[in-house]
Amino acid sequence: MIETLRDGAYALLLWGMPRVNVLSADSVRAFAEALESALTDSAVKGLVIGSQNKEFIAGADIETIQRLMETENSQSIFEASWQIQSVFLRLETGGKPVVAAINGAALGGGYELALACHHRIAVDDPRIEIGLPETSIGLMPGGGGTQRLPRKIGLMGSLELVLEGRRLRPQEALQSNLIEEVVPSQDALMERALAWLQAHPRASNPWHQPDFQLSGPRVQSEMGRNIFAAAIARLRERSYGHYPGLVHALSAIYEGLQVPFLQGLQIESLYFAKTLMTPTARAMLKTLFIERQRLLHLPHRPKSISPAPFQKVAILGAGMMGRAIAYVTASAGYETWVKDTDEKALSYAQRFAQDLTEKAVRRRRLSAAEADSIQKRLHYTLRYEDLSGADLVIEAVFESRPIKTQVYHEVRPYLSEKGILASNTSTLPITGLAEAAGMPERFIGLHFFSPAERMPLLEIILGKATNEETLAWSLDFAKQIGKVPIVVRDSRGFFTSRVFGTYVREGLRMLQEGIPPALIENLGRQAGMPVGPLALADEVSISLMYSILRQTEADLGLSLADDPVSEIGALFVEKLGRSGRKAGKGFYEYPEGGKKYLWPELSTFFPTRQVDPQAYEDLKDRFLYVQVAEAFRTYQEGVLLEKADGDVGSILGWGFAPFTGGVFHFVEWTGLERFRQRMEYLAHRYGERFYIPNL
Ligand code: NAI
Repeated sequence: MIETLRDGAYALLLWGMPRVNVLSADSVRAFAEALESALTDSAVKGLVIGSQNKEFIAGADIETIQRLMETENSQSIFEASWQIQSVFLRLETGGKPVVAAINGAALGGGYELALACHHRIAVDDPRIEIGLPETSIGLMPGGGGTQRLPRKIGLMGSLELVLEGRRLRPQEALQSNLIEEVVPSQDALMERALAWLQAHPRASNPWHQPDFQLSGPRVQSEMGRNIFAAAIARLRERSYGHYPGLVHALSAIYEGLQVPFLQGLQIESLYFAKTLMTPTARAMLKTLFIERQRLLHLPHRPKSISPAPFQKVAILGAGMMGRAIAYVTASAGYETWVKDTDEKALSYAQRFAQDLTEKAVRRRRLSAAEADSIQKRLHYTLRYEDLSGADLVIEAVFESRPIKTQVYHEVRPYLSEKGILASNTSTLPITGLAEAAGMPERFIGLHFFSPAERMPLLEIILGKATNEETLAWSLDFAKQIGKVPIVVRDSRGFFTSRVFGTYVREGLRMLQEGIPPALIENLGRQAGMPVGPLALADEVSISLMYSILRQTEADLGLSLADDPVSEIGALFVEKLGRSGRKAGKGFYEYPEGGKKYLWPELSTFFPTRQVDPQAYEDLKDRFLYVQVAEAFRTYQEGVLLEKADGDVGSILGWGFAPFTGGVFHFVEWTGLERFRQRMEYLAHRYGERFYIPNL
């Protein structure tokens, strides 16, 4: 697990775990033993900590963390964290200089180990990530990160890094002083590490010196107090108190920096234990780490199908979605052809890709050569002939069935022999489109989220006749472009749009009930949603929701008058011409160059009433429970293959209250009994839409 090599007077301790280097009880024990032998061997003058795998150390072992959580015993969690702290302490105070040779990802516990070393050198490869991302999955650092980092780089920078869980590339990490050196290649890494040891035989970390002073403001100074006041306010604004891990990390920094270093480490371990005991840590770890990882291994991929032979990808439509999808596929290595009927759209798409690559180069996330090859893989055209031989065509033209049908027929002759056709439609049932295209077996829905270059989820929708090869290859494609795929069966709105649509509708109902709009928006965010329902309606576009409603009524031959979109759509779209964000007016006003604000005339159309603050809990719960109930309905109808897919999809797709672990895990997070009571109460008081039969 840990191999010790010798290079003259220096010991190289190399991590090489069978799958991936992580801090587990066993690996830490093995490391401690190797460390002890090197420290006590008088012939050894210094140590390099490195890795034989492609990552340096990816973090804590999640299974170990899960087991600790299951003990529900804060003492044993504290001890586990303390065991790691002691090893790192021994490393930094063992009397010999130690360098971290960072050849790959150094995240969480991995970066904490590097922080305990006396010097850090990383290979200058923009794929390498360095940082303390624990809070982003509901945890917090427990290997000294909240104590060493602020003592190394000061309060301000470390608060930001820890509370936002940011991951930096080597060049950014160098600029922020997280590491001290970068080297151009793997080969240079060991050489530089050994040279550094030779030049610094007596290295030690400054926080062990008696006269140590924090660089920049101390906690108990005017500046320090201001920094914390601002950090607390920002935290509250972002999290509304839903994330104990964040508060605990902040407290560990605040308290730990006012006491001697060793005590600071103990404070951190205490907060770490406290964090792991919360239902939120459990929920987030499960969905955002374990289930997300599971989906990246493509559990729904038919096993017998050989890997996707895709080389050339064509995107139809260079609009907001098409251009971003094209950028994603070209970045993943596919030759990508973008076809539109509008030349302006094509040149805009080209500029879009250029801006993105330039920004990535400026931020050193891409090398100039990589940016150049992405550009070279992108081609823009008005002619179908150029798409000839495409293995995958992703259609992202206007949301209109006749237009889509027409482009399917036009593009079909240019598909490669085994090529497949996919639609990025957000609302039109896939089975119908597949039939219209005349190739239902090789047709599938690939639903990207906006902005597609950033959003991590891909919702894959099976039509009734979609064959196994098409599914398998779509999953391979998802993996290649680095998206987390969930597979769903066809249904109106699929899974994601259908469930998050209920959040928007609940907001519209409240408007009809006379709840003041600002309160609706604030309570939506306080409930844990990333944006208020009215702002979301504007983003999605009120006219789009209204036209889907009309289309559904026409398709199913029934009236949906009790859907709030019916009344509100008629008023906003037909009478007032306020169709949403794109039109520059909807529930909000969007002044040019200014901040959006709620349209002041709203109350003329929806007179407001006073709301007793005691009712706030009901309003917040309505926002979440209505989505949970709809999610259960989709599951019971067989739209989802597994509930856990829905958990991941709900958080990555539309930001459903991440602290709950997603729309299904919500029940466990709340506690089944309490959930049932609340659901029954809401159903009784506000309507059947909250009721889940056979829960
Ligand atoms: P958009 O209006 O920005 O772009 C559509 C593009 O298609 C335009 O550039 C247009 O010139 C082009 N186009 C129209 N007819 C064409 C034809 N016959 N051949 C080639 N190109 C043609 O629309 P947007 O927002 O990019 O949406 C595209 C599709 O993606 C729609 O089906 C939409 O439902 C879906 N979608 C949209 C999302 C969003 O957030 N906007 C999210 C997920 C899916």
